[in-house]
Amino acid sequence: MTHTDHSTPLRPFLHRLDNRVALVTGGASGLGAAIAARLAEEGARVWVADIDSQGAAVQASLLKNGAAIALDVTCKNQWHSVISRVEDIHGRLDILVNNAGITTMGSIETLDVDAFRHELEIDVVGVFLGCQSALRLMRTTGGSIINIASAAGLKADAGLVGYNAAKAAVTLMTKSIALHCARQKYGIRCNSVHPGAIHTPIIDKVLAQVPNPTETMDGFLAAHPIGHLGHPDDVAAIVAYLASDESRFATGAAFSIDGGMTAL
Ligand SMILES: NC(=O)c1ccc[n+]([C@@H]2O[C@H](COP(=O)([O-])OP(=O)(O)OC[C@H]3O[C@@H](n4cnc5c(N)ncnc54)[C@H](O)[C@@H]3O)[C@@H](O)[C@H]2O)c1
Repeated sequence: MTHTDHSTPLRPFLHRLDNRVALVTGGASGLGAAIAARLAEEGARVWVADIDSQGAAVQASLLKNGAAIALDVTCKNQWHSVISRVEDIHGRLDILVNNAGITTMGSIETLDVDAFRHELEIDVVGVFLGCQSALRLMRTTGGSIINIASAAGLKADAGLVGYNAAKAAVTLMTKSIALHCARQKYGIRCNSVHPGAIHTPIIDKVLAQVPNPTETMDGFLAAHPIGHLGHPDDVAAIVAYLASDESRFATGAAFSIDGGMTAL
């Protein structure tokens, strides 16, 4: 019996996104970098937007049809400038991936309220501003908005009170935006993606916040019935599907990609 190799990059070139314009927040690192690469491989012109402008420039330079732009997702004025720039150059935005995010560890007894506010500002307000700003341009041509939530937006963990609150908010905000766009007949779909633990720098940042990183890593593995963590390409593949017309009947939905974590 052969097993699927889960640790190597997926390399499909389907060209489902030729001539589309995409913007990926947090595109300098981890999942955002993998998503930007996959959308570009599918033919899209990809804007890599990140607060880390140097990292965004590096990632964009690796893409066939990429461009970098500095963006703090919590800043309404910066969103306005970014969308205006995309409009000036392309006159349209077909795909928005709200991926930028942080993970703040802590329970209701240990998490400081300022850290809780910071978590919500980036992971919730950042997504809200992205959707609101992009709609202005996207509603003229239609498009697809994909919000990267988390398995933690569907399932609670005692040590993740802030992250659980933030990603649960993204889950229902996505549905509300999808319903609004459908009722307005904008031709815009809005869905959320809920990864389990994926090997990216965010995992190292989480391990740096806990007293016993080995135990935490063992806990991550135990939480995934499939027996291993995910690869960034696993998430990029579902984002490419949601960005393409193949998912034309999908809106307001939460797509899990978590090795069975939320089935437990
Ligand atoms: N890696 C996982 O296991 C996992 C699991 C579920 C969900 N997610 C979600 O996926 C998304 C990406 O995570 P990742 O693992 O790639 O993390 P990462 O830390 O590797 O990358 C996050 C990126 O977001 C950028 N960023 C942070 N704050 C920003 C801001 N205010 N404005 C613009 N950019 C900002 C960072 O510079 C970085 O490039 C996050 O929303 C995260 O919650 C990750």
